[in-house]
Amino acid sequence: MVSQDLLKQPLLSPKNSMPNDSKKTPLFQSPRGMRDLLEADFYAMQGLFERAQEIATYYGFSPIATPLIEYEEIFTRTSGESSDIVTKEMYHIKTKGEDKLALRPEGTAPIMRAYIEHGMRSMPQPVLLYYGGPFFRHDKPQKGRYRQLHQFGIEALGTQKSIADALIIKTILAILHEAGAENFFVDVNTIGDKESRIAYTKALTSFYKKHAHNLPREDQERLEKNPLRILDSKHEITKEINEQAPDNMNFLNASSKKHFKEVLESLEEMGVHYRLNKQLVRGLDYYSHTVFEVINYDPSEEHEGLALGGGGRYDYLASAMGYPQDIPGVGAGLGMDRIIESSWYKRLTPRLIKKPKFYLIQLGFEAKLKTLNILEILRKAKCPVYQTLSKDRLSVQLALAEKMNVPYVLIFGQREALDGTVIVRSMKTRKQECVRVTELAKYIKTLK
Ligand code: HAM
Repeated sequence: MVSQDLLKQPLLSPKNSMPNDSKKTPLFQSPRGMRDLLEADFYAMQGLFERAQEIATYYGFSPIATPLIEYEEIFTRTSGESSDIVTKEMYHIKTKGEDKLALRPEGTAPIMRAYIEHGMRSMPQPVLLYYGGPFFRHDKPQKGRYRQLHQFGIEALGTQKSIADALIIKTILAILHEAGAENFFVDVNTIGDKESRIAYTKALTSFYKKHAHNLPREDQERLEKNPLRILDSKHEITKEINEQAPDNMNFLNASSKKHFKEVLESLEEMGVHYRLNKQLVRGLDYYSHTVFEVINYDPSEEHEGLALGGGGRYDYLASAMGYPQDIPGVGAGLGMDRIIESSWYKRLTPRLIKKPKFYLIQLGFEAKLKTLNILEILRKAKCPVYQTLSKDRLSVQLALAEKMNVPYVLIFGQREALDGTVIVRSMKTRKQECVRVTELAKYIKTLK
């Protein structure tokens, strides 16, 4: 039974959020970077999922669940050979067969795989889908960064229209607002189409080559593999160099410029405040055109925090996967762990949760045997109760009922078990009534 006291407990205490990094792995500890969600966290996560699901439904999205495991090529071909996800973070699965499988590090490529597999091309376009659940990245665990993370994602597949980009951003912002977020930045940028990306990459390569001797090793490697990612560098020296980097807007062809202009206009029309962040490129290679991130901002500490979500358009993802045609799409993923850990999170309560109004006291063996029938009657009447199977004394159970702050107790002792009755006692007035078990469901509906 749900303990409301537990619902009030602090979320994700450091102990359960970040297991120790000891050399010896104690058997009674979850794997590093992964954690159990106990009652309060479980409900916090479920409450967020349900609200996100409700909002996504209002915006026209339908649910989809894909396996936690996919062929690893789904990710290696799309996220990028040099991306962190592929080079360091993917969990590869060893099986007795030859299949090369991986735990899913992200959700977009599997959704595109499912869209193609189930012939969603022939459905009215765009197909709007939402999903939620765990993803796996073997990253260095720290606050807000887990190896098993939870995302709520939305995708609009089969449309090139810029309004879809704006709809995705608007939907994730609506979810964040309902979850209690007030202070965040919406960073937006464009990578343009293939032609624009090639032209910009060429310009960046020749620019960075001139500064190669000053670049840290990591960024020198990026220069070889994916110069765009240098814009995203965390190294101070690179950040300084980046201030002089060529401006991406100068390399957009006319159609890419038009698409981005329309996205920005739609955002303005919807009243979304955004920042143009020309250095936002995101860590996954499949993006084209619009990219965006929602960055948490803590006004008390005056610093920008972690990304609460991010996404963008991925018009070439299907062909990167080996599909003979391009399938346009745009989507976003929200980091659910980061949301439920934020001080502003409203702790949305799942719909299932009802605070019990009754404590069922059972006295003696005969009564305990028949208690299951009473619980069944109460369940059918949609009436949750607190109870304890292990206590026998009336005073102990009354004290527990008092602690749970329930307005009524149901007392079921030897005599009641023989008579087929239950005593319903008000904890406030101490008045009690003897009710036939067969009348119990009807009677409790009359109580406030
Ligand atoms: P992503 O930016 O890699 O995008 O992840 C989306 C969000 O998941 C991040 O903004 C962050 O809040 C959360 N997140 C990522 N890694 C971790 C982690 N290790 N621990 C906790 N939270 C994390 C994607 O995954 C894309 N599939 C999003 C997308 C959908 N793009 C288009 N459609």
